[in-house]
Parts: sequence; C-alpha cells; structure tokens
Amino acid sequence: MNGFIDLVKKRRSIRSYRSDPVPREMIESCIEAVRYAPSASNTQGWRFFIAEGEFKERLVGEAMKGVVVPNKFAFEAPVVVVLAMKLSVVTHRLGAGMKNTRYHLIDAGIAGEHFVLQAAELGLGTCWIGWFNKRAVRRLLGVSALWDIPALITLGFPAGEPKPKNRLAASEICTFRSAKRP
Ligand SMILES: Cc1cc2nc3c(=O)[nH]c(=O)nc-3n(C[C@H](O)[C@H](O)[C@H](O)COP(=O)(O)O)c2cc1C
Repeated sequence: MNGFIDLVKKRRSIRSYRSDPVPREMIESCIEAVRYAPSASNTQGWRFFIAEGEFKERLVGEAMKGVVVPNKFAFEAPVVVVLAMKLSVVTHRLGAGMKNTRYHLIDAGIAGEHFVLQAAELGLGTCWIGWFNKRAVRRLLGVSALWDIPALITLGFPAGEPKPKNRLAASEICTFRSAKRP
C-alpha cells in the first residue's frame, strides 16, 4: 500500500465476516481518526456506540425489526457501531433550518468515513448501514429525540473479497470551469 489513494481504493463494503473478535486498540484507533474529522462550527456532535457480544445481538435484533429487507450480514459481524449525532441547537437546528442544509448528516458522513478508512488501514472490513429501524435503536440506547442516528457500521475481519463495483469516470463527476460564462 502506498498513500491515501490506495487506502481509499482498498476500502470496500464487507458483508461477510470472520468470527474473530476485534482488538479494542484497533477500534480505539478508528475513533482517534474520527476525532480529527471536520464538523460544522466544530460541533463534533458524533457519538459512537460500539456494540459487541450480547449487546450487539440485541442491537441488531432491534435494528432489523420490521425492516422490509433486513441487512442479515449485520448478525454475522462481531462488532456493530452506532453512529449517533447529538444535535446542537444552533448549528444543527437553527442554522440547518436557515440554510436548508442538514449539517449534522454531512458531519456524520465525514466522521463515519474517517472511521471506516482507518479500519481499512488496519485490515478490518466495514459496511455502512442506512437501512434499519432508527426508532428501535434510539429506544434501546435510551437517547432522546435530540439525537439522530444516521447510520450503523458493521466491523470485523473480512471473510473473502468483495466483487469489483462500477465507478463513474472522473469526467462524469467533475467539471473544470475557469472562464466566466455569460
Ligand atoms: C449512507 C450509506 C448507507 C448505506 N446503507 C447500506 C445498507 O443499508 N445495506 C448495505 O448492504 N449497504 C449499504 N451501504 C453500502 C453501499 O451499498 C456501498 O457503499 C456501495 O454499494 C459501494 O460499494 P463499496 O462500499 O464496496 O465501494 C450504504 C452506504 C452508505 C454510504
């Protein structure tokens, strides 16, 4: 591996895991990467709940309750991370309303990506999960409606390689503009 772009390419969504536990220091190192993520007004509203063992079983059970297509692989992952956001009144509620931008979701996306990239660096697999029963997870964690839970992230040692995925060409996602247009 050599450099950031290789790490970015190495990170893939992993939906099959070995049962080996994930060492605590590895998870702490992923959280260290999160600490340096940028956030709107430096609110740092992210709160990561690391679910392991019996609590993870309960969490996934609740998270997939009533979900039309449950993410079954989450039962197999040794660790499931809840990416929760504690909403700040000024930036995440008033500011977001004024600018019609959900800053807390941008913050959550960046923080979560820091987490998964560091996990990839350590040889761990992850998969973002946005399709789950948010209300049930909120109830299990005992957090109020002042918290949002944008995503879960599965974590563990990968069992096998994912298939290659289609990526748009650079020309399809990026336009350079330098001259003033009428
Ligand atoms: C916000 C978000 C939500 C996602 N939710 C799910 C999900 O509920 N279930 C799932 O299997 N994958 C989920 N994914 C993973 C995407 O399907 C995956 O990132 C995409 O297909 C690209 O594949 P790659 O991650 O291997 O590069 C989610 C990804 C993101 C960023």
